[in-house]
Amino acid sequence: MARDPAVPRHVAIVMDGNGRWAKKRFLPRFFGHKAGVDALVKVINACADRGVEYLTVFAFSSENWKRPEDEVSGLMGLVIVAVTKYLAKLARDGVRITIVGDRSTVSERLRAAWAEAEDSTQHNHRITLSVAFNYGGRWDVVQACQQALAAGLKPEQITEAALSGFMAMRHAPDPDLFIRTGGEVRISNFLLWQVAYSELVFTDCLWPDFGVAELDAALADYAGRDRRFGRVDSGSGPA
Ligand code: IPE
Ligand code: IPE
Ligand code: MG
Repeated sequence: MARDPAVPRHVAIVMDGNGRWAKKRFLPRFFGHKAGVDALVKVINACADRGVEYLTVFAFSSENWKRPEDEVSGLMGLVIVAVTKYLAKLARDGVRITIVGDRSTVSERLRAAWAEAEDSTQHNHRITLSVAFNYGGRWDVVQACQQALAAGLKPEQITEAALSGFMAMRHAPDPDLFIRTGGEVRISNFLLWQVAYSELVFTDCLWPDFGVAELDAALADYAGRDRRFGRVDSGSGPA
């Protein structure tokens, strides 16, 4: 069956606003992050039901280490909790999980949880969920260059296509739709290389409140966009 061009193949989300969601309820920030995990699980299935093939979410940025130590360790611990709570369900739901980011500076326990999530879902095809954790767009460009050099590429072989092949997101096409919740209108070092031609949607909705209705609103916004990729006429994809 041909896919509907009005539905983005790849959706990327900056899941922002957890802390403010908790603050509004006089709860510690951690509760906002916890509610954010529950919101994510619903959004994964809703995306898959609507024909989205790739969903990439920003869970922890290279810069989030600057947060208080208890929040950082809370977020690390939440990964383990989330894997324990939801991995079996996501595996049953046909979700393939991949982690993108620098694994060298996270704990062995976290690396093991990620490996378990990836290994137990590697044969799934319904939707690919990429979790950006300890990820930064600049980190990704630098590590791709390092890999290219280590592979012995000559300067003239460093092309856009070659570099894309070394990026952490090489398993997915570039995002068609980029959503940021939480009201801030910035990229915050998410997929810098890959969002070159993404359609951007910013919403004030705080991430834990983001559900099917908000997703459908963003998808409707996307469906109305005219993607030209530099051309005069509109087209259905990069030429
Ligand atoms: C996003 O929510 C989650 C992470 C960055 C880990 P925040 O924690 O940034 O929530 P706000 O922006 O402070 O409300
Ligand atoms: C971006 O949110 C990172 C994640 C959602 C994981 P931040 O809350 O860290 O972004 P800034 O600091 O407001 O730009
Ligand atoms: Mg934030």
